[in-house]
Amino acid sequence: MQITKRQLAKLGLAGAAASLVGKAGLGSAYAADAPLKIGFIVKMPEQAWFINEQTASAAWGGQHDVTVVKLAGSDGEMVMTAIDNLSAQGAKGFVICPPDVKLGPAIYARATAQNMKVVTVDDRFLGPDGQPMADVPHLGMSGYKIGQQVGEALAAEMKHRGWSPADVAACRITDAELPTARERVQGATDALLKAGFMQANIFDAPQRTTDTEGGSTAASPVFARHGNFKKWLIYALNEETVLGGVRASEAFHLPAENVIGIGINGTGAAFAEFSKPQQTGFFGTVGVSSFLHGRQSTINLVNWIRTGTRPPANTETTGVLMTHDNWQAVKAKLEA
Ligand code: GLA
Repeated sequence: MQITKRQLAKLGLAGAAASLVGKAGLGSAYAADAPLKIGFIVKMPEQAWFINEQTASAAWGGQHDVTVVKLAGSDGEMVMTAIDNLSAQGAKGFVICPPDVKLGPAIYARATAQNMKVVTVDDRFLGPDGQPMADVPHLGMSGYKIGQQVGEALAAEMKHRGWSPADVAACRITDAELPTARERVQGATDALLKAGFMQANIFDAPQRTTDTEGGSTAASPVFARHGNFKKWLIYALNEETVLGGVRASEAFHLPAENVIGIGINGTGAAFAEFSKPQQTGFFGTVGVSSFLHGRQSTINLVNWIRTGTRPPANTETTGVLMTHDNWQAVKAKLEA
């Protein structure tokens, strides 16, 4: 068989090169000079945060002879299929934000069985002992510190509006299963309490999904049950969830000036809200660079595959508060 790799590429069949080469027994030189292929699997492919991560990963890959296959893994079955798919395409590893951190051991086992390296981004795998899996390098935000920034900003804005703690309630939207969420929300709570917020006025709203719909569904019963409070703070693990809480507060006719919602991420969901002519109950968000997360986790994985250098066990990133006043300037920095 005389078809060359260049001819395959011309036909748009580069992906088929490995298997054809294998079948035709044309030797290993072809495989060796093929671009490296890796996967980037995310739990919520429709969320702006994850779109940015995958975009940044693929952009870096394009400049460094790496093909990045963007995949969705919204549940365990999808993740396993994605891994098999990557393996069949000759991928050497993948970055993943898992749909459930408890799937860590199963995902890791599947990856190593297929000779693939794996690193996590955002949400860290938990081992059977409930502790982070030390075998899997991770990159994510310093959740507790970023949560503290949210709490401090909420307290500062409350003070700015001259609210007295006795009159204010907090809707704390939580995901108890996700350590990423627990850390961020705990940081915010601790900072609020330190600033004099009343513990008895904090009400939990457990969420099922970490998106706007999940936030709204979680927050509604809290507003319904505590109608005696007219002023509210809203916080959660991310801005999509806080936006859901703000939408629910609007449904309960709480005016925007009586609501202070602060999220985390700094992506399209927040920008759309900041762009509205009138400020809504969504006051701000702590922006973290999704682009940096996507790019750096990719670099870590690729270096590991190419040079054998294991990435750091845990890389933590920081954030900066974005509000109506400064969001465009901060956005430019986050996207750099
Ligand atoms: C979690 C959240 C996302 C985003 C990332 C960032 O995965 O669900 O919205 O905040 O963390 O680390």
